[in-house]
Amino acid sequence: MSADGRCVRYYCTAGGGMHTFLAHELKRKLRATEVEHIPGRVFFRCSSDLQEVMQLKSAERLFLLLSRAPPISLPKNPAKASHVIQQSIVGDPDNWRHALFTWNLLQVEIRHAQARSLKRKRDVEEDKGEGGVSCAAGSERAHTHLGTPEGTHDAPAHRHQGGGNVPAQAAPTFRISCRCSGAVARHYSSQNLSRIIGVAVARELGWKPDLREPTLEVHVYLSDDHSVIGIPLIRHPLASRRYMKHTGLRSTVAWAMTSLCPMKEASVILDPMCGVGTILLEAAQECAHAVFIGMDTEEGQLQKAVENVDTAGQKSRILLVQSSCMAIPLPTASVDVVLCDVPFGRKFSCSVDMPAALPRILAEMERVLCEGGCLIILLSLQLSAQMKKLVNSNALTPQSQMTELDKDPQGKSRGLGMQGPEHSWGTDELALSSLQLQNIHRVSLGSSDGIIHTYTKIQTLKHTHANTHTHDETMSTS
Ligand SMILES: C[S@@+](CC[C@H](N)C(=O)[O-])C[C@H]1O[C@@H](n2cnc3c(N)ncnc32)[C@H](O)[C@@H]1O
Repeated sequence: MSADGRCVRYYCTAGGGMHTFLAHELKRKLRATEVEHIPGRVFFRCSSDLQEVMQLKSAERLFLLLSRAPPISLPKNPAKASHVIQQSIVGDPDNWRHALFTWNLLQVEIRHAQARSLKRKRDVEEDKGEGGVSCAAGSERAHTHLGTPEGTHDAPAHRHQGGGNVPAQAAPTFRISCRCSGAVARHYSSQNLSRIIGVAVARELGWKPDLREPTLEVHVYLSDDHSVIGIPLIRHPLASRRYMKHTGLRSTVAWAMTSLCPMKEASVILDPMCGVGTILLEAAQECAHAVFIGMDTEEGQLQKAVENVDTAGQKSRILLVQSSCMAIPLPTASVDVVLCDVPFGRKFSCSVDMPAALPRILAEMERVLCEGGCLIILLSLQLSAQMKKLVNSNALTPQSQMTELDKDPQGKSRGLGMQGPEHSWGTDELALSSLQLQNIHRVSLGSSDGIIHTYTKIQTLKHTHANTHTHDETMSTS
């Protein structure tokens, strides 16, 4: 249960296209209720321990929700407008006091969890014979990280003061950070709005403004459609992974890719263009017993991947190999899941002309995947369009239908890209004949968008022949 034994209302910020992943994660991991989203924010209610909430992988930042209301309708008279803004944002001061009380309790939870984690670290270090010093440093870090003035977070008072059932608390120092868009933004700058709201909060609640080192940073978001007020629960973004020494692909997007594949125990998971290993590390956190292989042509990238894997304590589970994705050194049908972030040429240089190489790369991925295996690939908009054309004939073919057609004794293609006896197939077609599109997601990568395609490798006539052939060969050599 949460610190005060009740369900807490939170919201998380989420990158473009990530809200569906976050909503799914919230329901699956936290059994969250009232999961709703507006652009860039996902609201939810849950009674999970805060430590579990802080483990969310597809969210950017975590907030305690103070209020969520319809948009403010501003009067034409600017003199009245600031009164309206103050009335609608501050509203009932008890809501703010309740939020402060819950926030204080959650801070205590965070402190206790940090103390437990530091103790565990100290025990490990003492076991290694290098105790005291680093632990003392760690303890200092934890304290300054929260940056909370003495007594404010750890000890919410339990006596009552006027104003309903809200326990009395020391007045915190605070700062308002306002972001606005639409009509409000046309009349007021964010700074002006922050000041107007700050004045009202100080007057109505007796809280002390402090723009430099406030105890509470209250975030206010105003648009034509929404008014949202929240208080960040932790300063660092959930999206910044402590186990990543070198960053690559956005961790939330890497996690989203791994969430699309059915990872089973003992699965073999390959990233043939692994870079610094972000996707593999996100996958490794989710599946305790799978085996992971990362490949890259760049020695520098692989070196960073080695350091990341080491920092994350995943050395025994992730094998890194210098190799090209154009000739993957693995046997046919030996991999359960291929996860891949294809270079777009913006951040990473490509050793090849990617549009020209895509069919060949896919052919290799398709070859190493076992039947029923899964390919999850992140592409630029341009490569996504190319890929859609390449797999078009298979894209919407239900697997049941494909199985029926596979039984066709003639083995004619019937537009499914299967190999017929009289047909001479190009590499492109061979590559894609068994990849069946499952879904497509568009996600923001910051300066550009990426498209995640998910495919399942289905059985085709070609593979039935290939398997038979392999079997015969095995028989004849044994
Ligand atoms: C978009 S980056 C992958 C980033 C990775 N997901 C991460 O988070 O670090 C693409 C990677 O593909 C690698 N690469 C380029 N050409 C390659 C090839 N032919 N075979 C294997 N890797 C290649 C690059 O060195 C780069 O590290």
